[in-house]
Amino acid sequence: MASQSSAMSQNTLESGRFLHPFTDFAEYKQTGGRTYVAGEGVFIIDHQGNRLLDGMSGLWCTNLGYSQTRIKDAITAQLDRLPFYNSFFNCTTDTTLRLADRLVEALPHGFEHVFFTNSGSEANDTNIRMVHRYFDLIDQPNKKQIIARTNGYHGSTIAGASLGGMKGMHEQMTGLPYVHHVDQPYSFEHLGEHLPETVGQLAAQSLADKIDALGAENVAAFIAEPIQGAGGVIIPPSNYWPLVEEICRSRDVLIISDEVICGFGRTGQWWGCQTFGFEPDLITFAKAVTNGYQPLGGVAINGKIAEVITQDGGEFAHGFTYSGHPVACAAGLATLEIYQETDLLDTVTNTTAPHWAAAIARLSDHEIVGEVRSQGMLGAIELVRKKGTKDRIAPDSAAAVFCRNSAIQNGFMVRQVGDGLILSPPLIITESEIDQLIAGVHAALDATAAAF
Ligand SMILES: Cc1ncc(COP(=O)(O)O)c(C=O)c1O
Repeated sequence: MASQSSAMSQNTLESGRFLHPFTDFAEYKQTGGRTYVAGEGVFIIDHQGNRLLDGMSGLWCTNLGYSQTRIKDAITAQLDRLPFYNSFFNCTTDTTLRLADRLVEALPHGFEHVFFTNSGSEANDTNIRMVHRYFDLIDQPNKKQIIARTNGYHGSTIAGASLGGMKGMHEQMTGLPYVHHVDQPYSFEHLGEHLPETVGQLAAQSLADKIDALGAENVAAFIAEPIQGAGGVIIPPSNYWPLVEEICRSRDVLIISDEVICGFGRTGQWWGCQTFGFEPDLITFAKAVTNGYQPLGGVAINGKIAEVITQDGGEFAHGFTYSGHPVACAAGLATLEIYQETDLLDTVTNTTAPHWAAAIARLSDHEIVGEVRSQGMLGAIELVRKKGTKDRIAPDSAAAVFCRNSAIQNGFMVRQVGDGLILSPPLIITESEIDQLIAGVHAALDATAAAF
């Protein structure tokens, strides 16, 4: 492999005191980091003045890019008027209430209640609290087990990481004993062995088997992302979600759709569950709800759950100091106004996503590309040594890491997962910016092919 100069050059802003999340601290001491100092449209600018086209929307957050004056103005107006009040003990703020109403307008039919948190992780903790409470209140207290998936991602609190199926995270913690994992519907992993529909069927069957082994009377819920994001933009075969829905309904197991990435237009419709045609009981949201401008997450519940937990059961003993924080909610309100009052989501569905799908699909001709997947404004590129196989180019994902670094060096922010690259550009990206991004990824693939 040819040497690749470090993507990180001396960064005088880094004193070494800040501990970066999901970072190898020892390696970081050697390589240093990259600090971002400005954002504009779909571009981010680093500490050396390099301008990068952000192919990841921050961290799947900035669907509307970095220059939304309306959100900024809403935040400053809220700071001027009421910078904080809490939502405990029957209190809250007007902005918090207004955002809850706005969200209900955007949620799938039947969802009329939301509980706010500060992040997707806390929202998934809240999901567990919520479904345990629900089954306690309907006198099914044994229903406490939760089923999730291998290679799913649901956050980094103890509950979030337990629900997630990330091996590296589980190795560093003791997970919750009542969380279990079943197969993911990852077709490319089974290339040459099973057709995608078989993969969908087998993955759904592993859920049915797990519920039956635990006893449906003990299982509260199944949680999954409509499309696994952090796991590698894994788009399930079309038979998967209908089968999952049937399995859960026939066994009285609730479905939690973790829409932290898939929500707010990312998959081409408002919600990932709408794209895949299933009806969950609870929805997790975060990230793009404020366009990443403020930390905010939450759980939306359907009528079946709401009817029980809002009846005479007593206090729901759960919440965070900043649940429904007015400044975060002001950002959320302005963001939703943009989603709802402009034609952005229609443009995504009818123009941007089809252009994206065609542009990224062109990469499948590249000699080291084994598969290209896309849905809405998500994409994944699997790197292989030999086309038509899943033989990887180098151990330990080295080729994909190299490819990611090449893209970044050339001004395109993309993410590496395993032996692939993933992308999630802002929904406001133009067709010509998409073409630039794909050309940048193509050049990085060329550099990778030459290097290995
Ligand atoms: C599907 C999903 N759920 C939950 C989370 C956790 O969200 P947060 O990082 O805001 O806690 C993430 C974060 O990427 C996610 O992708």
